Amino acid sequence: MKILVLHGLNLNMFGKRDPAQYGTATLAQIDDQVQALGRELGATVECMQTNFEGAMVERIHLAHSDGTAAVVINAGAWTHYSYGIRDALAILKCPIVEVHMSNVHAREAFRHVSVLSDIVRGQICGFGVESYLLGLRAAVSAASAGKA
Ligand code: DQA
Repeated sequence: MKILVLHGLNLNMFGKRDPAQYGTATLAQIDDQVQALGRELGATVECMQTNFEGAMVERIHLAHSDGTAAVVINAGAWTHYSYGIRDALAILKCPIVEVHMSNVHAREAFRHVSVLSDIVRGQICGFGVESYLLGLRAAVSAASAGKA
């Protein structure tokens, strides 16, 4: 089972960025943990990060026909305003899980809005790196249910 884990803009700065919100793990360390859990769950995980909206949209488009069984996405600030990312995700038929390291609902008002929330299967936020791991478990389970 192929799972695509997408990280949006500024997330390459995890480890250096606002540790009170995001902890100290780097994106490479997060990806290592996600890959390790993927192996445990019997899934092949591809992780991708970009700061460019068009590049993210194009990677999402590929997921339409490359056998991706589910997507886990932390869209960073795009979550709050990018109809382009939303429209691209909405084209996909597979389950999508939205994740955030921080509890976006306990932060500034603009972070309380997700333009993705009604097209994703669910949102997991506030658990740091664990948000990704829970998101991956949810994605594998949703994809397996879809196959049954
Ligand atoms: C984030 C939360 C967003 O509001 C923010 O813009 C980010 C990271 C998170 O993982 O908590 O870049 O998605």
